[in-house]
This record gives sequence, C-alpha cells and structure tokens, in this order.
Amino acid sequence: MKQPVKILGFVGSLRKGSYNKALMRAAVKLAPEEATIEVFDLEGIPPFNQDLERQPPQTVKEFKAKIRKADAILIATPEYNYSVPGVLKNAIDWASRPYGDNAFEGKPVALMSASVGSLGGARAQYHLRQSFVFLNMHPLNHPEVMMPFAEDNVDAEGNVTNEQTKQRIRELLEALVQWTRRLKDKPR
Ligand SMILES: Cc1cc2nc3c(=O)[nH]c(=O)nc-3n(C[C@H](O)[C@H](O)[C@H](O)COP(=O)(O)O)c2cc1C
Repeated sequence: MKQPVKILGFVGSLRKGSYNKALMRAAVKLAPEEATIEVFDLEGIPPFNQDLERQPPQTVKEFKAKIRKADAILIATPEYNYSVPGVLKNAIDWASRPYGDNAFEGKPVALMSASVGSLGGARAQYHLRQSFVFLNMHPLNHPEVMMPFAEDNVDAEGNVTNEQTKQRIRELLEALVQWTRRLKDKPR
C-alpha cells in the first residue's frame, strides 16, 4: 500500500473566529484516506528581521522542520487590501531564508481562501502564486477553493455549512494527493 501523503496546513489569519480557520478545519475533516493534514499555528512567529535569518527563533525552526517533513502544503488565507495578509507573508519570508535554505523548495501547494466579500479572496491567491515562482513551489491549478460571503457559510461553532464549498475542498485534497504523487514519481 502507498504511504499516505503528509500535508502541512497553515492559515493566514490569527483571528479566533476566522473563516479561513474554518476552511482548514473542514479540510482536516474531509481529508481523503490517503492523506494526513497537520495544522501549524502561525501565532507567535515574530516579524522577520534579516539580521536574525541565520539564528531564527524556535517557532521558525519548528515551522521550517515541519515544512521539510511534509509532502505537500495547504494554505488557507484571507485577502487583505487586495493582497496577502502580513502574518502569512511574514511566515513565508522566514521559512524561505537564508538564501539557499528555502524550506518550501520543490513542494506542491494548494490554496483556499474565504472572504466576506464577493470574490472570496481570489486576489490574495493570485498574489501568493507570484511568490510561489521565486519559492520554486508547484501550485495546484484546479480546483480553486474560494468562499465568498463567508459569514453566511460558516456556523457559530466555526463549521463550514456550504455543501458546495465542502465538495470543492474534497476535490482540492484529492487533486493535491494526485499532484503530489505525480511530482514524486517523476524521474529527476
Ligand atoms: C486589514 C484588512 C483588509 C481587508 N481587505 C479585504 C480585501 O481586500 N478583500 C476582501 O474580500 N476582504 C477584505 N477584508 C475583509 C476580510 O475578508 C474579513 O475580515 C475576513 O473575515 C478575514 O478572514 P478571517 O475570517 O479568516 O480572519 C479585509 C480585512 C482586514 C482586517
């Protein structure tokens, strides 16, 4: 039997009632049998300071180690001012440094976003995809999971209630598993 695909998830919102945390919780519940999802909390990662990139704080060391152990990455993020929240960009910047020690090198990655607006965080996803070029990650193109009008699609307990979104999450995870296996099997 094939080994399960190990997915590391993280969320670009620290907010307790975050709709993006709800997406990640849903992903953990909906993960296919051939995958496991561990979620890393970005709370506590300090602002990036390049003076410290060779002696990063313990949380960053742990984050980088978990990224390296993972077969694939799953990110759920809000859109802030038509772009990526600082919390998420900051964590990615830490994990990509120092130059030559990018923990994300060659990793498959899938994206989800939730927003109270009508586009569901699409612009944040496309900004992130630009960073994946320099990070040399392999983003999954389809399906796209964007949850607009998030307050209508998450209940008071933080569960995603929209069946269509849940189905898209299932499809995204299945596609991520296949994408990861395809990249691993590829002769180098
Ligand atoms: C600083 C800031 C900027 C925001 N900018 C956008 C935006 O550009 N587009 C959008 O759809 N929503 C924007 N929002 C609203 C977010 O969609 C909303 O706060 C959402 O709940 C954030 O995700 P979370 O629930 O996971 O924390 C912004 C919110 C904040 C706090």
